[in-house]
Amino acid sequence: MEELNKKSDNVAAMFNSIAAKYDFLNHFLSLGIDKLWRCRLVKQLAKSNPRQVLDIATGTGDLAIQLAKHHKSVNITGVDISENMLSIGREKILKRKLEERINLKQANSLNLPFADGEFDAAMVAFGVRNFEDLSKGITEIHRVLKNGGSLYVLEFSMPSRFPMRNLYRFYFRRVLPFVGGIVSGSKSAYTYLPESVFAFPEKEKFVEIMANAGFKNCSYKRLTFGVASIYVGSK
Ligand SMILES: C[S@@+](CC[C@H](N)C(=O)[O-])C[C@H]1O[C@@H](n2cnc3c(N)ncnc32)[C@H](O)[C@@H]1O
Repeated sequence: MEELNKKSDNVAAMFNSIAAKYDFLNHFLSLGIDKLWRCRLVKQLAKSNPRQVLDIATGTGDLAIQLAKHHKSVNITGVDISENMLSIGREKILKRKLEERINLKQANSLNLPFADGEFDAAMVAFGVRNFEDLSKGITEIHRVLKNGGSLYVLEFSMPSRFPMRNLYRFYFRRVLPFVGGIVSGSKSAYTYLPESVFAFPEKEKFVEIMANAGFKNCSYKRLTFGVASIYVGSK
């Protein structure tokens, strides 16, 4: 457990150090496509008309803000381990006058400070690959969902075909660490990014992890040549 906490501390410290540059780099390095992917997730999730939604690894709150704008009757709780990411998120929420509907809290996804069955839906964008114990994190999300509630996960995935697969590898191995390192001042954070992406058990493997955590009807949809995927499962 101590080792797990240590990994969480390292991840939190890394995101604390890049928080100020995170939004800029995110949109710049993805050429803005990350916004379209979040939009896809939000539209899919809003169809079930949820009232209480949990945004795990909310970071600077982009996904929570997009959902609040798209779906006017939803309340969102965002959690993250990095206080610096959250404080940028809080500023953005205040600026958009969404503070009545989005509440950000510092918490580890492995030990969520919520009762069983508290949320109608949960969502995670680019967060699960950072969990120190993926199965435990997904099981914990399952616990806080109501019966019938769904989990939506957006995460990078590896395109299966040439030439996208080769371009993807080159971009993540060479371009991201170089540009991200220079702009953020943290080369290690942008070396960690491709490592965590390549190590993530994606596609059918992640679907299996969701199913083992108790989720039903698990599936995934590839986005933009398979560069990212949205996974869905229900409780
Ligand atoms: C790549 S950012 C994604 C942020 C946001 N969801 C987005 O779409 O931009 C990953 C976030 O996961 C958070 N994180 C990593 N491990 C976590 C954990 N165990 N519990 C809660 N948050 C975690 C990090 O602090 C970071 O803010």
